[in-house]
Amino acid sequence: MAMDDQQSKVQRLYDACDAVFSSGNKAGLPTLTQIRWLQDLLDGMEARDVGIDAGSGSERSSSSSSEDDDRSPPGRRSLSAQAFTRITYVHIHECDDFSIGVFCFPAGATLPLHDHPQMVVLSKLLYGSMRVKSYDWATAPPPCSGPRKSGLARVVAVDEVREAPCKASVLFPRSGGNIHSLTAVTPCALLDVLAPPYAEELGRPSTYFSGIPVPSLPGFAVLEEADLPDDFRVAGAPYVGPELTVDMDTIFRYN
Ligand SMILES: [Fe+2]
Repeated sequence: MAMDDQQSKVQRLYDACDAVFSSGNKAGLPTLTQIRWLQDLLDGMEARDVGIDAGSGSERSSSSSSEDDDRSPPGRRSLSAQAFTRITYVHIHECDDFSIGVFCFPAGATLPLHDHPQMVVLSKLLYGSMRVKSYDWATAPPPCSGPRKSGLARVVAVDEVREAPCKASVLFPRSGGNIHSLTAVTPCALLDVLAPPYAEELGRPSTYFSGIPVPSLPGFAVLEEADLPDDFRVAGAPYVGPELTVDMDTIFRYN
């Protein structure tokens, strides 16, 4: 294990997530102190800390579709923000307890309204600006699986614009805007920690919704499960940032 002062920021983030969210330590939701710790770590991070070049691209860079080049020293390459022509997910880590990754958006792209069942999600906007619309379920418990998920939701944010640099945000299973849509105003990237990750077989599917305003109830909407547009697809790109040393106990549990 590297000494503390040699650790990359993404390694510190991973270690903190492992301490807060791994099964052995988990006793329900994380504490406010733990959330602030993770937010502080995220607030200290920039695109280059996860191998993304947000600038004009003077560094050596590769497009989102290029192959990994094993001859390059780790952490020396970067993905160019300009190469993301559709929403692209850069997967950094996933285990049973949490996942870390970056959603990179070209200008104008929208991640449609979707939920995060039973999850805590911390998000740091690394560059650019995005518009956020979000809701929380108004009923307890939130609607669960039926033929089509639907329910009354309270509006949390209407077209709130977030512009980097800004503080990391957090949403919870029942508050903070658990159901949201994200639209890129400019090219932007969102570093996301999901705890736990989506897992359909464990009752945590990813569901997309359409929102229908309720004229008699200002500030509320009915959310109905919706199909994704046929042409909607999130691309994948390899993570080329600093190498991560992961908790082997977690790996053995995961496999
Ligand atoms: Fe989301």
